[in-house]
Amino acid sequence: MPKEVLPIVDKPLVQYAVEEAAEAGLTEIGFVTGRGKRAIEDHFDVSYELEHQIAGTGKEKALDGIRSLIKNCTFSYTRQVNMAGLGDAILKGQTIIGDEPFGVVLADDLCLGDEQGVLAQMVGLFRQYRCSIVAIEEVPADQTGSYGVIDGEMISDSLVRVTNMVEKPAPEDAPSNLAIIGRYILTPDIFEILRNTPPGKNGEVQITDALLTQAKTGCVMAYKFKGRRFDCGSVAGFVEATNYYYENFFEQA
Ligand code: G1P
Repeated sequence: MPKEVLPIVDKPLVQYAVEEAAEAGLTEIGFVTGRGKRAIEDHFDVSYELEHQIAGTGKEKALDGIRSLIKNCTFSYTRQVNMAGLGDAILKGQTIIGDEPFGVVLADDLCLGDEQGVLAQMVGLFRQYRCSIVAIEEVPADQTGSYGVIDGEMISDSLVRVTNMVEKPAPEDAPSNLAIIGRYILTPDIFEILRNTPPGKNGEVQITDALLTQAKTGCVMAYKFKGRRFDCGSVAGFVEATNYYYENFFEQA
């Protein structure tokens, strides 16, 4: 099954992602999927057989979350046929997005905000700065090779104006230990920049490279978000997220 439908306690990762977007007021949801990921589409739809079976039982309440998302959001899908990088995947989303600013959520990075979800925090900043924003957190120096890493001028305790960005640098080449995590707000000029961005690290079109171009010609902000982030693409992160969510957020239906 696609990793995006692996459940953390009682709902799949992709549902957390959509809930976070909806909380931020982003209710037109566009997915860039790929082969073998059709379970994602089916999740955001009615499951007649199951719903019929649990109708009228105590279990029906467990459907409230997904039902409210289906009611309040629209869902559109497009495919990335070749795994040519995150930048290429975002470019594939242009047909869904058009000429508007938009948010990007990588569902395997589960973010549990303190009071507000991370995207909602970022939308607040976007209203102020009107430029692309990436979410960042500090990582141990030996882990920079797993992330896009930024450098820049501190605007406040939690905001950096980006001057440099490197995709997955070795620790000795990293400009800092401030790593980009899977939340972005992007202005639509990024599409044209992505079209002109040659393949970078690992031969893939990198959003990090396109954002560096945007930072040099305009403005990109990096935001130290309030909350916890779990790398659910790793076994340790997945287990940690499960325990943390269960202990701090889970309410028995
Ligand atoms: C992608 C980005 C990277 C970012 C990371 C966050 O990498 O390319 O810049 O730091 O997501 O999760 P991936 O994890 O898809 O290899």
